[in-house]
Amino acid sequence: MNRIAVVTGGTRGIGSAVARRLKESGYAVAAVYHGNDAAAAAFQHETGIGIYKWDVGNYEACEAGLRGVTKDFGGAVEVLVNNAGITRDAMLHKMTPTQWQQVIETDLTSCFNMCRAVIEPMREGGFGRIVNVSSINGQKGQAGQTNYAAAKAGVLGFTKALALETAAKGITVNAVAPGYTATEMVAEVAENVLAKIVAQIPVGRLGQADEIARVVQFLVSDEAAFITGATITANGGQYMA
Ligand code: CAA
Repeated sequence: MNRIAVVTGGTRGIGSAVARRLKESGYAVAAVYHGNDAAAAAFQHETGIGIYKWDVGNYEACEAGLRGVTKDFGGAVEVLVNNAGITRDAMLHKMTPTQWQQVIETDLTSCFNMCRAVIEPMREGGFGRIVNVSSINGQKGQAGQTNYAAAKAGVLGFTKALALETAAKGITVNAVAPGYTATEMVAEVAENVLAKIVAQIPVGRLGQADEIARVVQFLVSDEAAFITGATITANGGQYMA
C-alpha cells in the first residue's frame, strides 16, 4: 500500500508544491488547510489531492482531523510535513499579544498538536517520517518578526528533541529552513522592503516553492533513514548556519 502522507498548509505556497511532489512519488496525500476555501478547492480540482480543513493550532481539531484522514485512507499516517505557517509582522514595540499568540500557535504549537496525534501509531508501526518547515528567519532573526523567528527557532529545538526520542523506532524527524521563497507570504512584504532583502540573496533571486519541495521529498523517502535531527537549509546562500 502507498504510504499515507499529510501536508499541512498543503493547498498553497510551499505546502502545495510538497503535496504535488509526494503525490507524483506515489504517496497517498492529504492536504490540510484552514483559511482559503477557494484556493483549496482549485488545488483539489487540479491535482485530485484530498483536502481537509482544520486549524492546526487547535489540539482537538488535529486529533479529530487525523482520525478522519486515517479512516478515509484506511491506514496510519506514516509521513507528516508540518508546513502550515503564518506571519503577523510588526516591530516588537507595535506587536499585539494577538499577533504574538497567533504565530506561536499556528507555526509552533501546530508541530506539537500534529506530531502528538501521529507519533504513537508511528512508534507502533516502526516507521515514520516527519519534516517540520522552519525558516531562515528562525536561524538568523529578522526585524519585524520576533513572533515568527521565535516560533521557527522553536521548531528547530522541537525537531531535535523529537528526533532523539524516536531515532530507535524507525522514525526520522528533520527540519527544512527555506529562505525567501516566491509565495503569497513573501509577496505580502512591501515591495521596497523585499527589494532590499532580495539584494542580500547571493543567488540573486527568490527561491521557488518546488526547490523546497524537493528537499522535503528527499527527507521523507525510505532511503533517508540515516538523516534525523537535521536542519537542511535552502536559501540561495543568504545565511550559512
Ligand atoms: N533592521 C532594523 N531596523 C529596521 C529594519 C531592519 N531590517 N527594518 C525597519 N527597521 C526600523 C526602521 O528603520 C524604523 O525605525 P525608525 O522609526 O527609527 O526610523 C522602524 O524599524 C519602523 O520601520 P517601518 O516604518 O518600516 O515600520 P512599519 O511598522 O511600517 O513596518 C515591518 C515594519 C512590517 C516589520 C516592515 O519593516 C517589514 O515588512 N519588514 C520585513 C519583515 C520580513 O522580512 N518579513 C518576512 C516575511 S516572509 C517570511 O517570513 C517567510 C520566511 O520564512 C522567509
